[in-house]
Amino acid sequence: MSSVRLADYRPAPYLLSRTDLTVRLYGDHALVEAQLRFAPNPAANEADGAGASGEPLWLAGIALTLESLQIDGLTLASEAYALESEGLMIKAPPAAPFVLQSRVRIEPHSNTTLEGLYVSGGLFTTQCEAEGFRRITFHPDRPDLLSRFRVRIEAEHSSCPVLLSNGNCIDSGPLDQGRHYAIWDDPFPKPSYLFALVAGVLEERRELFTTASGRSVQLRLHVEPGDLTYTEHAMASLRRAMRWDEQRYGLEYDLDEYNIVAVRHFNMGAMENKSLNIFNSKLVLADHEIATDEELERIESVIAHEYFHNWTGNRITCRDWFQLSLKEGLTVFRDQSFTSDLHGAAINRIENVSILRNTQFREDSGPTAHPVQPDAYQAIDNFYTTTIYEKGSEVIRMLHTLLGEETFMRGMTLYVSRHDGSAATCDDFVRAMEDAATLAWDEAQESSDSCRFDFAQFKRWYHQAGTPVLQIQRNWDGSCGELELHIRQHTPPTPGQPHKQAVVIPLVLGLVGQGGEPLPVQLEGEDPETAQEQDLPPSWGRRSRLLVIDQPEVQLRLCGLPKQHHPPALSLLRQFSAPIKLDLGRPVAELVHLLAHDSDPLARWDAGQLLLKRAVLARSQGQHDAQLEEELGDAFGRILNDPSLSQASKALLLSLPGQPELEDAAQQAGHKPDPPALFAAAQSLRQRLGQALATTLLQQLEACQTEWTQSWPHGQGDRRLSGLIWAWRSAAGDAAVIAQARAAVDGASMTLARYGLAALQHHDRPERQAASEAFYARWQHRPVILDSWFALEASAPFGDGLARVQRLLEHPRYDPNAPNSVRAVLGGLAGNAPVFHAADGNGYRFMARQIADLDGRNPITASRLAKVFSRWRSYGTERAAQMHSALSTLAQAELSANTGEVVQQCLAEDNHG
Ligand code: PHE
Ligand code: ZN
Repeated sequence: MSSVRLADYRPAPYLLSRTDLTVRLYGDHALVEAQLRFAPNPAANEADGAGASGEPLWLAGIALTLESLQIDGLTLASEAYALESEGLMIKAPPAAPFVLQSRVRIEPHSNTTLEGLYVSGGLFTTQCEAEGFRRITFHPDRPDLLSRFRVRIEAEHSSCPVLLSNGNCIDSGPLDQGRHYAIWDDPFPKPSYLFALVAGVLEERRELFTTASGRSVQLRLHVEPGDLTYTEHAMASLRRAMRWDEQRYGLEYDLDEYNIVAVRHFNMGAMENKSLNIFNSKLVLADHEIATDEELERIESVIAHEYFHNWTGNRITCRDWFQLSLKEGLTVFRDQSFTSDLHGAAINRIENVSILRNTQFREDSGPTAHPVQPDAYQAIDNFYTTTIYEKGSEVIRMLHTLLGEETFMRGMTLYVSRHDGSAATCDDFVRAMEDAATLAWDEAQESSDSCRFDFAQFKRWYHQAGTPVLQIQRNWDGSCGELELHIRQHTPPTPGQPHKQAVVIPLVLGLVGQGGEPLPVQLEGEDPETAQEQDLPPSWGRRSRLLVIDQPEVQLRLCGLPKQHHPPALSLLRQFSAPIKLDLGRPVAELVHLLAHDSDPLARWDAGQLLLKRAVLARSQGQHDAQLEEELGDAFGRILNDPSLSQASKALLLSLPGQPELEDAAQQAGHKPDPPALFAAAQSLRQRLGQALATTLLQQLEACQTEWTQSWPHGQGDRRLSGLIWAWRSAAGDAAVIAQARAAVDGASMTLARYGLAALQHHDRPERQAASEAFYARWQHRPVILDSWFALEASAPFGDGLARVQRLLEHPRYDPNAPNSVRAVLGGLAGNAPVFHAADGNGYRFMARQIADLDGRNPITASRLAKVFSRWRSYGTERAAQMHSALSTLAQAELSANTGEVVQQCLAEDNHG
């Protein structure tokens, strides 16, 4: 399999001004006619130093049956082109503008890849990002070619009354034989990956939105008949997103129509096609009875994410797929800001950091690690990763932190004005930020000197994979109140990148005095007044100080501190100001102090996480640390009783780190992680804390209950804390709580029902069985909800887990073509530590067989799943050998390019995971 390289990028030899399509849909196939208007690209010819024209023209095309091919109305002789399995080459196109016309036949009904045009539950739908358009027609299909699209759709009226594409519907009407047509015209030139078409039986919710400048936009949300009652939340979310983008970024919607369609069979979450977003139905259909609080918030953020893409992605798109994070990292940053504005910055940040650490950090330290801007790939679909998205967003966030809101927004304005209507690069984005910074720094002269940095160096964040580590040593001089910090940064090697250079790290820190009071951070030689002039967002901890660490090693002296025997507690990486790991010895007492007093919500939470990790780790090695656990119990008791904390904050502060983080902590402590032991240790710690804090937990539960019936977002913190208390008290064997958790499944709140199920999940008790059966009986006819039941059953950590998973795969309601169901069952199994990681290796072999089988139907979903094997080298010898053998068997199967690439990366020698 060959790689595509960033270094090989060349401008297209022919520009494309128009893509005119006629798509005829039938009961068992479709015909697609395309008229593409090309002209030689002067820029390309200049770049190559070649003559004015004569270059061959490559049209990508996969799984297309070519029926006719013409240039300027004349059929092409067979010698004039070469037809290959992945496209066709026009050998000598005209030197002047020309029209290329083709007709192909395609088979959407048997297309299980869910790329290109396919049928989902009787609905014709498309997915073109990244390279699906070539499964619809012959086309250059590259993101730097923006053309105007006009699309005529023809289909049978009874089975496809609704015909949708991008832009505005300019004409529609009846045809012979019960058929009809619609013509859609999109005034904005766009790359082919943003094309979309939908045809089928749909019901719609329609609302008008008036933009800031007073234009009226028709919002339409299309769902399967019967689902309209579940669209209110998605519609309201869309309105909030549109308003927010106007208010915060000054960006308004640009067309008269905005459509969202929900489809059951979809590889990803959702897709930002111009004015015709297509969504995985689980991210549209929702209300408090059928979706959890977490799902409601997620839906709101994905609706916003796709909407925000209209500017950051569609109006300004990516030059090539190496620039994917240009649109994804930035748009994630925007949707995260949206959610924090709406629902609270502190909590949102903690949730996002937790996701980052459990997914991106793991990826970054394994065989599939890659930079935010990769320089080579085999299958582009494999690069829709947490690194491109979440780390990409962290990189933007660091720019925001370093520059401040005002300068960052100036940079955004520059970026939009320079690149609107074109395909840009990550460098273009950083350049806009740099130009804004230069202006601001010139205006400010000396004052904000400490936060200046070198943009060229900053860009290493785009090119270096791996999570940087900051190693910190402290020296406290109590006699003069000075704290010396010795800071060293290094980034571990990753595949293909053995040596790393120093990056620019915005490090936000604070000092907490013995009474819990914030102390000023004053550097040596600074006057105490100016030391506190930095103007950081109000959501940061009190007296926070932003430092720029851009050298491999730095020495800092913090002065003017109280002259005491004990140093003040060091609150580091406040708000998680950079996506890095910290390495410093921190005594339990210091962490307990920070957990009690740190005014920065993230650093406070993180102190608790560190303590929890230590406690779980000790238990997993059979040496539970009674004193640490007692201190933790006491600290949590005080947190639970603290009236100044919201219930949501309490729930977050008490939540145990995820399994990937626990494995990582074990590794950092120099052990080979033992997943089943860590899993069991976490559960036994819940049991212990559940016992130790019984009275306080039950008091809190009672207080929470009064808020249960409030509807989202109200009462969500109370429900969340209730879920945590249920889990802890169920683990401790509290019969009354177990009964309450069981009963929640029959109640009116999906959030409580799922917390109830989760609380009962760990033990094979009759109540668990009853709850699971009741949930199934109640929701068996709603596939989206049933997926959560599939996931729960697949991850039950007791009994014969593999036999249970096998039964689920054969279950009459299991749909092997729905990625959501596949992920529920196989993803559920992968998250089931005792079963997946069982010492006999049966879990691994089972998974490998399932992935090979899935790969035949859906390579995109299969290759994403194959990453469950990526950490094999980090485990102990026997487990690693079992995992390796399962991987090797998988490697011998006939695999798609997508899955082949992942498996090959996992097996490669140059693998530092
Ligand atoms: N571009 C989509 C998003 O992030 C994700 C996606 C990628 C969807 C590829 C489908 C296929 O919003
Ligand atoms: Zn996106």
